Amino acid sequence: MKTTFFTAGLIGLATALPQAYIQESSSAVAQTSTTSVASPQDVPQATTLTQAAAVNVTLSVEVPAEVLDTTSVKADSPALLTTSPTEDDEFLSLADFFNPNLSIDDIPAVSVDLSTVSKRDLQGLFGSQISRGPFVNFLRVAAQIFAKVQKVIVFWTCPQWIRPAANTFPGWRNYKSNGVNLGGWLVLEKNIQPSFFEDNAPSAIDEDSFCQVLGEVKCGALLEERYKTYITEKDIDNFASFGVNTLRIPIGYWAYMPAIAGNHYYTGGQKLAMQKIAHYAITKHNMHILVDLHALPGGQNGLDNQGKTGQLTWWHNETAFDLSLEMVRRATDDILAQPHSGSYTLSLINEPLPALYFFGQTQDSIAYLNKYYTAALKEVRQRSKTLPVAISDGFIGPQTWDPYWTNVDDHLVIDTHIYFFTGGAYSYDAAYGACYLAKSYQNASNPTFIGEWSIQATNFNHLGDNTRRDFFRSQLQAYTQYLSGGMFWNGKHDGDTVVGDDGSLQKYYWSWEILASEGIVPRPGDKLESLC
Ligand SMILES: *[C@@H]1O[C@H](CO)[C@@H](O)[C@H](O)[C@H]1NC(C)=O
Ligand SMILES: *[C@@H]1O[C@H](CO)[C@@H](O)[C@H](O)[C@H]1NC(C)=O
Ligand SMILES: *[C@@H]1O[C@H](CO)[C@@H](O)[C@H](O)[C@H]1NC(C)=O
Ligand SMILES: *[C@@H]1O[C@H](CO)[C@@H](O)[C@H](O)[C@H]1NC(C)=O
Repeated sequence: MKTTFFTAGLIGLATALPQAYIQESSSAVAQTSTTSVASPQDVPQATTLTQAAAVNVTLSVEVPAEVLDTTSVKADSPALLTTSPTEDDEFLSLADFFNPNLSIDDIPAVSVDLSTVSKRDLQGLFGSQISRGPFVNFLRVAAQIFAKVQKVIVFWTCPQWIRPAANTFPGWRNYKSNGVNLGGWLVLEKNIQPSFFEDNAPSAIDEDSFCQVLGEVKCGALLEERYKTYITEKDIDNFASFGVNTLRIPIGYWAYMPAIAGNHYYTGGQKLAMQKIAHYAITKHNMHILVDLHALPGGQNGLDNQGKTGQLTWWHNETAFDLSLEMVRRATDDILAQPHSGSYTLSLINEPLPALYFFGQTQDSIAYLNKYYTAALKEVRQRSKTLPVAISDGFIGPQTWDPYWTNVDDHLVIDTHIYFFTGGAYSYDAAYGACYLAKSYQNASNPTFIGEWSIQATNFNHLGDNTRRDFFRSQLQAYTQYLSGGMFWNGKHDGDTVVGDDGSLQKYYWSWEILASEGIVPRPGDKLESLC
């Protein structure tokens, strides 16, 4: 019988609630603070949170664990999380805890069935952005939990993510994607590799201005070199060695047709480079390829990732609409001309946003997207009855599209993106938010994959503890377990913006390559403690 110890430390509640942390050590109970609580009665003596904040409380909880594999645990097994809140107003927000007048008596009690408390539950006491139950549960329940926690720890074993032989893709309903994005390769993004901009066109902010600053000839030469060298077969081998079975490849409309007036994009070897890498990934590693039409004529989201920052003229623009359909026709024909066209999915659009920095949709934009999806799908289906087609949920959740897309097409899949770097999430509890979201998406009528995810939270990004590992792994697990998997954004990332409260740089939260080299990305067969 394996014994795992862990401690929950709270250092100065009022000022540092977000720093509440869980530490794990395999051998002994770590005593990390001045007050060690030895019995349930010792837990909060304070009657207000301000008083409680004056005391450092360390709980040392011994968990004699039967090791249990999730393969034998069902979704409704009593071993799974029991503390999920039912109604929003039962819970307090983080801000509430900074109110010195809040009394412990103001905190609603949350009942916990102690016979089913697991380590995840204890961590869950700190809550998540979505399922808020942070300190609430802790103060109320700590005393009880502390008395005796004897519980199974649930492990999740990374599967051998299936790799269907070339041309035998089983469809998104039967597929689990452990994928990476090849962003910043065929469509530039300055944040992904700032040095490429600084070395060549420091004043440029996106691909359009990059080529505008440099002029077509110079820009073309640099980009052609990049197509050949930024992503190589060695990278694909590295992905494969971690069980990656899917590549999502962002590509712009200008790979399929000349740039429209007012754009400065270079049209060259993008398609060829994509085909070569895809061919290698398919034939050598049985990977699946998502051709992601990331940048549409006119600009569908106004962000730099569509090539031209601030341009948002795709919507309600017949010229852009027709050009987009032409792009879809060409992209489809291009896929179907490949020797292993059965190993591809075509994604019709990336992150459509009807207004700048509005990460949602309106009735009007939903209607317009449906018009595009319908017309584009028709073009694809005139060429292939079975090529899987991905449509974006536009940040409003896959179920929102059920009324329009239930039983419409057998080979349709929804692409949704889950990010926690905005919205106020804390690194240590965003992991739970991801599990919650994935579960909430599992009943959409079409299969869903998470086309982009990363491990930067809004607050408390830092290196040096297990938050990055847990955040990465819980997302990988959640998207595999409840959905059709996902693709990490991004395969490579060299972003040098400071995003951590310890001064750590963006790339440590966005580069699959770095995370793999640091042991954060697990491999098939690895046993992870399940946080979901
Ligand atoms: C609580 O712990 C912190 C960090 O170890 C320490 O700086 C602080 O003085 C402690 N506070 C009390 C009231 O013991
Ligand atoms: C807390 O209570 C005091 C005294 O009643 C009051 O002056 C203060 O504004 C309150 N603070 C907050 C944040 O509500
Ligand atoms: C419509 O789209 C075309 C092609 O993308 C673009 O050239 C044009 O400026 C757009 N029209 C408006 C009114 O934005
Ligand atoms: C959602 O799907 C899961 C798995 O198929 C099922 O167990 C669950 O009952 C469904 N939930 C709802 C609300 O339909």
